[in-house]
Amino acid sequence: MQGEGKRRYVRGMFSRLVARYDLMNTLMTLGRDRAWRRWTVAAAGAGPGKRGLDVATGTGELALGLAQAGCRAVGLDYVEEMLSAAVAKSGALPAAGRPLYLAGDVLALPFADGTFECLTTGFALRNVISVPQALAEMARVLRPGGRLACLELTPPRGRVFPLFFALYFGRFVPLLGGLVAGDREAYAYLPASLKGFPSAEALAETMRRAGFREVSFRRLMFGTVALHAAEK
Ligand SMILES: C[S@@+](CC[C@H](N)C(=O)[O-])C[C@H]1O[C@@H](n2cnc3c(N)ncnc32)[C@H](O)[C@@H]1O
Repeated sequence: MQGEGKRRYVRGMFSRLVARYDLMNTLMTLGRDRAWRRWTVAAAGAGPGKRGLDVATGTGELALGLAQAGCRAVGLDYVEEMLSAAVAKSGALPAAGRPLYLAGDVLALPFADGTFECLTTGFALRNVISVPQALAEMARVLRPGGRLACLELTPPRGRVFPLFFALYFGRFVPLLGGLVAGDREAYAYLPASLKGFPSAEALAETMRRAGFREVSFRRLMFGTVALHAAEK
């Protein structure tokens, strides 16, 4: 699936998944996503007084992490239902420290050049219709010296891990999605969305071409997840 058809499909799918989205993340990652998100926020250089943006924020976990690290945080997504869940969740923070949530598209971010010092994005790039354009937009809204941290599934390498991936994400996760979220098809999209997605090395190269430097990455969860960090 490509282009506008993919955009419509992804948007419709995420608007259906909101209620069980966080629970499914916890189950699928065996609770490891909490630590990965902490590392992502740290890799973005989040800290007091900095302006932080979480792109494709979903239910706002990374935006909350930015806010808790002291950033003036903004979370952006194009699914209103996701943003409503994110707003409800941030109610636990003092009003002044809550992220601001905005509707918008990753491919045309509604911010001036150089607005942010820190940028996070989690499990989003597989879903956009142009990874280079999304990264170019992220580079544009970051200030020189600002940092990007990107958490995403990655095609596993070697002989054993692709097998593990095929069984776990191809068989078990859709089953779990059917039982827990009542939407087996949406969770079958997850492994399908990785087909044609760049390797961790190729994604690092795409980041360099988009204007980032000092690009590095680490693999997590048996090489099925990658955390990329880079500087503008
Ligand atoms: C798998 S969820 C990830 C949510 C969150 N970042 C996390 O780490 O859990 C992907 C999110 O990307 C959003 N998304 C996908 N394409 C987008 C686009 N072009 N513009 C804005 N949001 C987009 C979806 O609405 C969804 O909330």
